[in-house]
Amino acid sequence: MAEARKTTPDMITQIVLDAYKDAPDPRINEILRELIKALHGFAKAVQLKPDEVISAAQFLTRAGQISSEKRHEFILLSDVLGLTMLAETMNDDLPEGAFEPSVLGPFYREDAPMIEHFDNISRGDNDGLPALVVGQVRSIDGSPIPRAHLDIWQTNNNGLYENMDDSQPDFNLRGQLSADEDGRFAFWTVKPEAYPIPTDGPVGDLLEAGQRHNMRPAHIHFIVSAEGFKTIVSEVFVRDDQYISGDAVFGVKDSLLADFVQVDEPEIAAKYDMVNPFWRLNYDFVLVEGERAKHDFSTTR
Ligand code: BEZ
Ligand code: FE
Repeated sequence: MAEARKTTPDMITQIVLDAYKDAPDPRINEILRELIKALHGFAKAVQLKPDEVISAAQFLTRAGQISSEKRHEFILLSDVLGLTMLAETMNDDLPEGAFEPSVLGPFYREDAPMIEHFDNISRGDNDGLPALVVGQVRSIDGSPIPRAHLDIWQTNNNGLYENMDDSQPDFNLRGQLSADEDGRFAFWTVKPEAYPIPTDGPVGDLLEAGQRHNMRPAHIHFIVSAEGFKTIVSEVFVRDDQYISGDAVFGVKDSLLADFVQVDEPEIAAKYDMVNPFWRLNYDFVLVEGERAKHDFSTTR
């Protein structure tokens, strides 16, 4: 009788690959095959120990336990590992000059109130320093996109989104706005501030293990869409923010940096009942033709 062969790591990998090889959906088949190859390759590269597999399982268990309708630890995990930005950037075939995508993040809430031009999305008593945001939505060929749609959200100056902070009014610092016939828009808000991502879950332990801080540079989130154009989920950053080159979730791109400037325009301030001087941001959004899409992720309050 032939002597039994000792099982090797490569034999395990092959047995597992064979076990999944008949997955009928071609995309799932491809994803499973490459996932097994990458996961086994990773385990071999670091000579993963059995107790480290258990630790990883416990980490994921804690991520599940802290997650809820309004806390999305797995999205955060993908964000701090750069996976979200990698997937966004790999799948963007946009030309130079187009508005580039960035992370949606776990705090987008759909159905924010529609606002009119020059309305204020700051509905709290003490949200921060007033800022006027103005711009135009254009096609890559330079023509304005009439009635383009903006969905906007940001934190107040305590660094929290309204759904995480009972002291803020419902939908504070969130709004939707339709650009005019010339693609132009204007709205009041507050100048955004850098803020920390949550560290009371396992993602906090991961950041600590990597000796990384948990700050995001100040930004305003936008989803910009229009019929016949590719919807872009992104954010616009305060260029001179101290965390601009160390975003905890890697969302910063050169083209998304913008200048908030302090302006002294007493007539405009008086017209809209704002303090003078105030902050002003000019930023234009450039879209390319494609499919308008709706995001199917939304958090709740
Ligand atoms: C945010 O900016 O809302 C965000 C994005 C990724 C992770 C955490 C927060
Ligand atoms: Fe944010």
